[in-house]
Amino acid sequence: MAPKPRAKKPMPAKAVAAPARKAPAAVGFKPVIVPSVAVEELQRFDSDAAQALQPVAEEVRVCGKCKLCESRTQTVFGTGDPRSPLMIIGEAPGGDEDVKGKPFVGRAGKLLTDIIEKGMKYKREHVYIANVLKCRPPGNRNPEPEEIEACRSYLERQIEIINPKVILAVGLFPAQWLTGKKMAIGKLRGQVHEVDGRAIICTYHPAYVLRNYTVETRKKVHEDVLLAVEILGKGPLVS
Ligand code: URA
Ligand code: SF4
Repeated sequence: MAPKPRAKKPMPAKAVAAPARKAPAAVGFKPVIVPSVAVEELQRFDSDAAQALQPVAEEVRVCGKCKLCESRTQTVFGTGDPRSPLMIIGEAPGGDEDVKGKPFVGRAGKLLTDIIEKGMKYKREHVYIANVLKCRPPGNRNPEPEEIEACRSYLERQIEIINPKVILAVGLFPAQWLTGKKMAIGKLRGQVHEVDGRAIICTYHPAYVLRNYTVETRKKVHEDVLLAVEILGKGPLVS
């Protein structure tokens, strides 16, 4: 039998210069950059702390370190007196905050104001209020771990500059951020955590309280904020 003709070797593919492939671009986000309410507010205070916060707020204003920079209306850096011995830290701006450029100005914010003014008997403008994230997660979804990491240095510097005696963490994300403990909020609340020589007190988020408006939940929040008052003392926070 005649041997089968050997299958023709496939023609080597013609060497064509591969199209110049771009190195995978470092993910470049397109940040929304607009004037900052916080920078304007800080210019009205004349303390060293207010001065020191200004460049940080300016850095946040133009920040493009995570994808939230593309969907924000504006950044929400923080508000209140930078000389305050009390900081309150929330999770991230919601819809109202994204529009106004200030933390806790919506429905949860109204409850937070009542907690400060009626529960603790302090003036809200004496407290420095900020969030773990400076930009709103779309649809108010939970912050993602990489967003928290990208944003970490801003809150770290706010705390370092303001140097508060007490920090009240409202909600799970700030409670875990501040204590470094990956525990449920129900376990973190009700006690004083000492971190870097500061008192960290954790409690439920006001939005959670609004959704679970029971005597027990409200009583727990009241107990928690009184722990802060015990350390700070009664009377004006800032003279
Ligand atoms: N919830 C937060 O955690 N922060 C805000 O600023 C508003 C709502
Ligand atoms: Fe930058 Fe924080 Fe906003 Fe992300 S959330 S863009 S890290 S300021």
